[in-house]
Amino acid sequence: MPANLHIDLVSDTATLPGIAMREAMAKADVGDEQRGEDPSTNALCERVADLLGQEAAMFLPSGIMCNQIAIAVHCRRGDEILASENAHIIGSEGAGAAVFAGSLIRALPSRKGIFDAEDLTAALSNPRPKSPRSRLVNIEQTVNRGGGSIWPRGTLQEVVNVAQSNGLATHMDGARLLNAVVASGISASDYAQDFNSVWLDLSKGLGCPVGGVLAGSRSFMEEAWTWKYRFGGGMRQSGILAAAGLYALDHNVDRLAEDHENAKRLARRLSEIPGVRLEFDDTPTNLVFFDVAGTGLSAEVICEELLGQGIRIGVETESRMRAVTHLDISESDVDDAVDALAVLVQQEGTTPSNAAAG
Ligand SMILES: Cc1ncc(COP(=O)(O)O)c(C=O)c1O
Repeated sequence: MPANLHIDLVSDTATLPGIAMREAMAKADVGDEQRGEDPSTNALCERVADLLGQEAAMFLPSGIMCNQIAIAVHCRRGDEILASENAHIIGSEGAGAAVFAGSLIRALPSRKGIFDAEDLTAALSNPRPKSPRSRLVNIEQTVNRGGGSIWPRGTLQEVVNVAQSNGLATHMDGARLLNAVVASGISASDYAQDFNSVWLDLSKGLGCPVGGVLAGSRSFMEEAWTWKYRFGGGMRQSGILAAAGLYALDHNVDRLAEDHENAKRLARRLSEIPGVRLEFDDTPTNLVFFDVAGTGLSAEVICEELLGQGIRIGVETESRMRAVTHLDISESDVDDAVDALAVLVQQEGTTPSNAAAG
């Protein structure tokens, strides 16, 4: 990471805990989390369980651990999980479902990471004797690699109904659930209460240094605790971290709307740069994917050049990039990043070889 990095659009995990959050952490009441004696962690878990319309919750070090514990509770060796083809659990979790639960994931075709009751019904129809047992439906709210798309409440409900009537459990990867809540005005419990398990991430748009909170029924949570110990996810005085989460829930949720506005601005301004093409036709939350093939520059070259100026944008493939707005990105940061990219592209367009090529 370059020392002059000052506009970091690589992810909403780039947020740094501010002074007020650090003060809340320093003042936290603490105890032994594994014994259920950490008051701040207990307060966070109760609050998130309530927020998500679930009976109980547990504090975990990361979102991936939330997903993997939920999968391990729901699935057994030889089971099948259904998820959209771009799901985080497919491409970005070290094949944890296979390693820990012995389960495979069937990738469902989707539209921006969203499938519907019909898609799920079709996927579940016609099981043969040698088919794996379909056991779990996983959905992401919002969909990271769907450009931050939001599952409509009705579609979620229909998918849950199909899952339930086929005896499947349901899991919501809510890494950015609160982005969906703020963008849509629909409550977190309305989105999440019918799922068998759901979690939200504290270390993304909410600005905490660490942590996710996984929620479900009391019986789900009992088994989840076994897996938490097994994964080494049991903590001690985790209240220091939980206090950051409580602070974030009080102060950093409504402001996600600013990130969404900034992302829309970013997308609009990027689309005005010759050769840059937005991957998605809208920007509902805070994720902007774009293709730079038409600029004559590779994503890697753009990334390196911008890094030299203290600006970071993520590289997805040779020509695709991802920029994410968050707590530490202002409107003027958005403008500065786009201006820097526009200058790069313009320079490329006027280099002698390109100019001659006409
Ligand atoms: C949709 C989704 N799920 C899960 C995760 C994993 O979260 P964590 O980085 O906290 O492990 C991410 C992280 O980017 C994500 O985008």
